[in-house]
Amino acid sequence: MKTRAILSALFAAAFATANPAWADDKPVTEQLVDTLTTLSGGPHAGYRANHAKGVLVEGTFTPTAQAAGISQAVHFQKASPVLVRFSNATGVPNIPDANGNAFPKGIAIRFQLPDGTATDIVSISVNGFPAATPEDFLGLLNAVRDSAGSTAKPSPVEQFLGTHPAALKFVTTPKPAPVSFATQPFFGVNAFAFTNATGKSVYGRYQIVPVAGAQYLSKEATDKAAPDYLMTDIVERVQAKGVQYKLLLQLAEQGDEVNNATVVWPDSRKTIELGTLTLNKAVADSKAAEKPIMFNPLQLTDGIAPSQDPILLARPTAYAVSFGRRLAH
Ligand code: HEM
Repeated sequence: MKTRAILSALFAAAFATANPAWADDKPVTEQLVDTLTTLSGGPHAGYRANHAKGVLVEGTFTPTAQAAGISQAVHFQKASPVLVRFSNATGVPNIPDANGNAFPKGIAIRFQLPDGTATDIVSISVNGFPAATPEDFLGLLNAVRDSAGSTAKPSPVEQFLGTHPAALKFVTTPKPAPVSFATQPFFGVNAFAFTNATGKSVYGRYQIVPVAGAQYLSKEATDKAAPDYLMTDIVERVQAKGVQYKLLLQLAEQGDEVNNATVVWPDSRKTIELGTLTLNKAVADSKAAEKPIMFNPLQLTDGIAPSQDPILLARPTAYAVSFGRRLAH
């Protein structure tokens, strides 16, 4: 009798952890992928559940002398080959590049390290995120889903935005169409801890700043933009003269929030230059090449460690669900 009571208490505790009141029977990360898929009118076999439309290019990352002072990571000591994927938001594989739903834009960077491993940076074109937790992000996406065809006033998404200021700020942040991916700044959003060879650690967030400067289309040019203008332009620029970005690190000060992606640090925070990305090679048959690749913000290397930001920690699991479904088709 006693054993049965203990077993049933253990079972109850395990069940409570795996199935909190707000969840259905799937983990939140899988529910996120399901809702992203529904929102894109999917499943679209063989494509990413988010950032489905993209293009791969290649190049080199050359670190500055300062980078080694921040982190002992091997790519901050000497130059590395990089693989970069630019992308549009949503799981819609043919979304027009200037469509309002195709924002934020994405950049995923894979640094190929000398020992055959790799480390990734996966960033977006907005500084900040609409939700501090995966549960809140799911709440937002589900509210968007439930608003389609809803006659309720306020609609589910209006209700959500009315009670979640960070989500309201994110959706109302202007997201102008860039002239080119080569004129679009990107932001790491999640913080990481960087440790140098003497053991000194700092928290920082990446910024990826185009050397050509930030440049955006006028309203008229945005309305007339060709559906694939960004995808074709970036390949042309990479092949013609090459495209460069500075990789910067915005450093946290004592007391700055490092575990909440909705809290943007002030521009006055010290920002140091880690190096230059030079993209100068197209990838043959990018569509086939990108399918078996999963960029992962937690694919790290010695000298870089994750913060405890719940959004950051949820990402690899959600990406793996999307990756697994992509490979199955
Ligand atoms: C819980 C929050 C998030 C969820 C559920 C989520 C979900 C996803 C999914 C399912 C994919 C497709 C992955 C694949 O199939 O390979 C993806 C890709 C991507 N995500 Fe997220 N994401 C989240 C947060 C973020 C954040 C904070 C950023 C950037 C700061 C970001 C930037 C990107 C980019 C750039 C890609 C495309 C990667 C590529 O080119 O392969 N995501 N996301």
